[in-house]
Amino acid sequence: MKTLRDRVAVVTGGASGIGLGMAQAFAAQGARLVLADVEKAALDEAVAGLEAEGATVKGFVCDVSDAAAVARLAEQTLEAFGGAHVLCNNAGVAGGSPGGLWEAPLDEWDWVLGVNLMGVVHGLRSFVPILLQQEEGHVVNTASMAGLMPGAGIYGVSKHAVVAMSEGLWRDLRARETKVGVSVLCPGWVRTRIAESDRNRPEAPREPVEVPPEAEMMRKIVEGFIERGKDPREVGDLVAHCILEDRFYVLTHPWESMVRARMEDILEGRDPVGAPPPDAGEWSEMLER
Ligand SMILES: NC(=O)c1ccc[n+]([C@@H]2O[C@H](COP(=O)([O-])OP(=O)(O)OC[C@H]3O[C@@H](n4cnc5c(N)ncnc54)[C@H](O)[C@@H]3O)[C@@H](O)[C@H]2O)c1
Repeated sequence: MKTLRDRVAVVTGGASGIGLGMAQAFAAQGARLVLADVEKAALDEAVAGLEAEGATVKGFVCDVSDAAAVARLAEQTLEAFGGAHVLCNNAGVAGGSPGGLWEAPLDEWDWVLGVNLMGVVHGLRSFVPILLQQEEGHVVNTASMAGLMPGAGIYGVSKHAVVAMSEGLWRDLRARETKVGVSVLCPGWVRTRIAESDRNRPEAPREPVEVPPEAEMMRKIVEGFIERGKDPREVGDLVAHCILEDRFYVLTHPWESMVRARMEDILEGRDPVGAPPPDAGEWSEMLER
């Protein structure tokens, strides 16, 4: 895309964190916005904040794990603005379970894959046909560095799938010679509410899970990194830039060594050990404390 001015940008998970940061960045470039989120109060607040800054914005409550709800979001977008140009499949949850993958409760798999993976599928199914009708368009799927490194539990599985889906989407759109671009956003630590993802958990009876002390300690360490993470608005500005530049892989942190280590493990027939983030020294210091 050459410009975001007067274009319509749809952002799922737009009430908080990276989604809100992208919405602010797009608004600063003159885009009109649709924010979708499961959290009504946070959504209302985000819409009011953007309006106060002069943006044209509509907010819709939408659970991205529900295909019908996302189809309805597409209708609401067309009713509100008559089109859609940028789709950010960004809503996500940092669910997971301590212990081995084989021990994780099925409802945890359902929740995390329902939001992080199927939410993106639903977004593509409902919005890509609309983008294809425009003269221009761009899809941004939020994955994670967890989608480029080995491991990282159910969350990592969901994010690897988002990277794979984005690469497949790029190839499919290229094969059709369309003007719709694709980016996959792979953030490192960003200062958001992702560590409080339990607030977005569906209210259903859950299988009991025992949390060992080391998993609890790891959770606190991750929270600390997120608290000191990158400003979401900075990530939003980077995404806006990459849409205009039509850049596919978008990394927010200089963590190329992690990607390289995974590729080298594969090419050299090594076990999937990978490499820690460059700030991992701080991790071990914190673990020793
Ligand atoms: N913060 C980080 O360090 C980080 C790193 C890598 C990737 N990510 C990814 O960034 C994306 C945004 O997360 P964030 O860090 O801004 O966290 P956040 O919790 O601040 O924002 C996530 C938003 O998604 C919404 N949401 C959750 N479930 C939903 C559902 N079923 N339907 C619609 N909306 C839903 C939440 O209400 C919230 O507003 C996620 O996909 C996350 O996995 C974050």
